[in-house]
Amino acid sequence: MHSAPQKTPVIQVLMVCLGNICRSPTAHGVMDKYIQNKKLDKYIRVDSAGTGDWHIGASPDQRAVQAAAGRGYQIASLRARQVCQADFEEFDYLLAMDRTNLRELKNRCPGAHQSKLQLLLQYSNSGHESVPDPYYSGAQGFELVLDLVEEACEQLLLHIQTEHYPELRAD
Ligand code: 4NP
Repeated sequence: MHSAPQKTPVIQVLMVCLGNICRSPTAHGVMDKYIQNKKLDKYIRVDSAGTGDWHIGASPDQRAVQAAAGRGYQIASLRARQVCQADFEEFDYLLAMDRTNLRELKNRCPGAHQSKLQLLLQYSNSGHESVPDPYYSGAQGFELVLDLVEEACEQLLLHIQTEHYPELRAD
């Protein structure tokens, strides 16, 4: 008897902040690059969205674009969108940048999917709980976002590999 070929499952990660123009597009760009670097794009997909609707359709903030480019991440072509109900079904990990965003997600998410909601920095050893909103900060705020996001995304990627694709771990 022949069995149908197994479709490779794809783990989907949604990075969530307030506006989807500073922190979550940065996390989106960093995670995407890490996924590409490890040639895991067949297995893991990342997207980003905001809990708010003010910036729908907008490019990332220029300061976020510049800071990211300084470390080799190209995020200028991303466009802001708002979290929608289908996201709670579709994504496996919905990762909030701070407690306010996490609370918003918890309020909107059906009970069956609540366990998908976490803070991104739960995957970090930095001692920080949240990625601080850099919107009203200077350039150093955007560098801190990158520092925190890079460290957490590295751990997150290892976690997803261990949890879902242990055969793909090189170490
Ligand atoms: P983000 O930053 O949530 O990291 O995209 C913000 C962007 C815009 C605003 C607040 C935070 N805003 O108030 O418009």
